[in-house]
Amino acid sequence: MGLAQVDLDRFQTLIEINALINSDFSDLRAVLKRIVESAMRLTEGEASSLLLVNPENNKLYFEIALGSKGPQVQQFSLEMGEGIAGWVAQHNRSLMVNDTDEDPRHMRDIGRKVGYPASSILAVPMRVKDRCIGVIEILNKRDGLMFDEDDLQWLEIFANQAAIAIQNARTFQQVRNEVDLLQDQVNTDQGYHTMVWASPAMGEELQLVERVAPTESTVLILGESGVGKELIAEQIHLKSNRAKHPFIRVNCAALPAALLESELFGHVKGAFTDAVSDRRGRFELADRGTIFLDEIGDLPLALQAKMLRVIQEKTFERVGASESITVDVRIIAATNRDIEALVEEGEFRSDLYYRLNVLPLSIPPLRQRPEDITELAEFFLKRFARETNKHVTGFSDEAMEALLSYNWPGNVRELENAVERSVVISRHERVMPEDLLLHGNEGPDAERYQGKSLKDSINLFKRQFIRRALDRHGWNHTETARELQIQRSYLSKLVKDLHIKQHKGDSSQ
Ligand SMILES: Nc1ncnc2c1ncn2[C@@H]1O[C@H](COP(=O)(O)OP(=O)(O)OP(=O)(O)O)[C@@H](O)[C@H]1O
Ligand SMILES: [Mg+2]
Repeated sequence: MGLAQVDLDRFQTLIEINALINSDFSDLRAVLKRIVESAMRLTEGEASSLLLVNPENNKLYFEIALGSKGPQVQQFSLEMGEGIAGWVAQHNRSLMVNDTDEDPRHMRDIGRKVGYPASSILAVPMRVKDRCIGVIEILNKRDGLMFDEDDLQWLEIFANQAAIAIQNARTFQQVRNEVDLLQDQVNTDQGYHTMVWASPAMGEELQLVERVAPTESTVLILGESGVGKELIAEQIHLKSNRAKHPFIRVNCAALPAALLESELFGHVKGAFTDAVSDRRGRFELADRGTIFLDEIGDLPLALQAKMLRVIQEKTFERVGASESITVDVRIIAATNRDIEALVEEGEFRSDLYYRLNVLPLSIPPLRQRPEDITELAEFFLKRFARETNKHVTGFSDEAMEALLSYNWPGNVRELENAVERSVVISRHERVMPEDLLLHGNEGPDAERYQGKSLKDSINLFKRQFIRRALDRHGWNHTETARELQIQRSYLSKLVKDLHIKQHKGDSSQ
């Protein structure tokens, strides 16, 4: 191969990488991996790595490590100034060492620790606005050859490309965060909650919501306390043809029967001592919109017959009035109580129950949807960081692990509170496990699997087991499959089928 040929190959690769960088900002790791792989191939190195400076502690972490000892290398980090890569980061200058035995900077390099001694090294800084944000290094030119100036110059070009990719991804992430927070602000201003989810279970629930929303049917939302029943009710309203009209909430457990009746249906002046003027009830306020009857299981028996009539005929009278009022209202009810048991005990009318139970939706508890734990925790963290003006950007791996293994008896509400508290307490950029104050409550396995089918439990176990193995190998499927002694293609299928995702926020900030 002549020199011109080699350069052509390098140019070609550069153009490909350029296209890649401009096409996809969401999978930074994949782009960086391509860059490092190409750089290694074109400089004929045997191993390579890309390290990023973590601004929190000024250490260098291996983001990508290719070569036979890659997975082991990835577990290490370097102090600024430590080893060749540390020197490059500290001095923000490239380095070419072809006789490592003679170079004191090499003495403490990672290669020695993992039994992969390097005889020749190329290391160049990645720069954003002249500041070093990381280092790419290539080790051991093949066949005992030495790296030359040409290799170094090309590696600098590739490092430049990698820096652009990182910068793009970080900017993209920042903009996305900004948009998410603004959207959240808009939702809040309009009196609604932002709904966040990532689990297949919630995905199915929301598909049902899409289907029931445009109908006029009554919906009964069931689920433990704090799972998000009210948010589902909001979604049904917002996705219905009534979205532009009011969404009126009533908590049926909050008031004694007499007051609740007037709250729901209104009253006329003089109907009772405090009725100094006519007043419209919540059903009237909800005209053309949706009424959300929360805690319907606690609706006093005395009001249940009236409620049945409203549901059937959309007709009622204000307290103290004789003429009937008819409204156009869609009814959504929710309860965390075992309403069938209430019916059996005679505390809830069976005819009302049947009327309400036309379209039941059951929201699964948070512990059964681990993907939502990650997503929600990150969402709440961003929201509270903004509200409290604290520079907290994510969770440490251990903190996220603690969140995922906790049982969450109070569901999303409890998670929200835990994250809020941790943001307030946190003295670091990342939330640490001790900030979460979940002490001792981590659900032991028995609890984690309690009440689940064998199939669900096995899937839950598989998910956690595989995720941890992937984490150990820096999400390298080939290496992970080898450890687990399964085919790589089977591993990829499991990752896809079980919706296993990498925890966010490790490198791209
Ligand atoms: N998917 C979600 N995305 C964002 N926030 C959520 C989600 N689910 C629940 N929350 C938050 O958790 C808290 C509890 O949710 P919600 O009030 O809907 O629970 P609930 O099921 O009605 O509970 P309860 O039975 O105790 O009334 C709320 O502050 C809500 O904002
Ligand atoms: Mg509620």
